[in-house]
Amino acid sequence: MIVPMQREHAARVAALHCAALAGDFLPSLGKGFLTVFYEGVLDLDVGFGFVAIANDQPIGFVLGSTDTSALFKRVMLSRAFALGLCALPAILRRPTLVANVLETFLYPSKEGAVAEKSELVVIGFDAAHRRRGLGRQLVAALNDAFRARGVRSYKVTVLQANTGANGFYRALGFQHALEFELYRKKWNLYTYTIL
Ligand SMILES: CC(C)(COP(=O)(O)OP(=O)(O)OC[C@H]1O[C@@H](n2cnc3c(N)ncnc32)[C@H](O)[C@@H]1OP(=O)(O)O)[C@@H](O)C(=O)NCCC(=O)NCCS
Repeated sequence: MIVPMQREHAARVAALHCAALAGDFLPSLGKGFLTVFYEGVLDLDVGFGFVAIANDQPIGFVLGSTDTSALFKRVMLSRAFALGLCALPAILRRPTLVANVLETFLYPSKEGAVAEKSELVVIGFDAAHRRRGLGRQLVAALNDAFRARGVRSYKVTVLQANTGANGFYRALGFQHALEFELYRKKWNLYTYTIL
């Protein structure tokens, strides 16, 4: 079952995000940080998403936005204290993460070559529930939500090393637009036209 993401899903979505993208920048700031982040996104209505439910538990999620730069700025500013507190242990362990925080704010400028502002921010499934067509269903739900907001095309970025996700986006008809470097890693940027 696919349902719109609600505030009550935030902690579970944060846990899924941490597990599905372990090692990425946001998960490295911790599950508590991501819980506050998702609560902020939903409270401020700066993003929207869907979760796939099995046995009354979210097993996968997708988050979209019509302006990811504004999403990050508004959530970071309105939840600065709680986010900072949650991220502190990780930053004390790895002070270099501060550079990544700054890069996150500069990140949209690296995608300037495409016109799309709307974005599939992140999608992730519990490992035991992949390759069952659920990711495709979540993207279809997201497409409907974008369409309802008047959005006809959007973008997504993914690590080049993430072969599974690159295969997923290509299989769904996303077009490779460009590559760029962030956090000293190479990323692909795809665009998708909603038919
Ligand atoms: C990427 C991800 C969301 C895909 O979700 P999913 O539910 O497994 O995908 P689906 O079952 O809907 O796959 C649809 C099609 O995409 C392609 N695909 C999916 N996973 C793939 C993989 N690992 N390798 C190559 N192609 C893949 C296939 O063509 C698949 O169709 P098929 O199974 O009939 O061959 C999931 O693998 C995941 O959570 N990965 C970890 C998190 C992540 O990398 N997120 C993306 C970064 S934003």
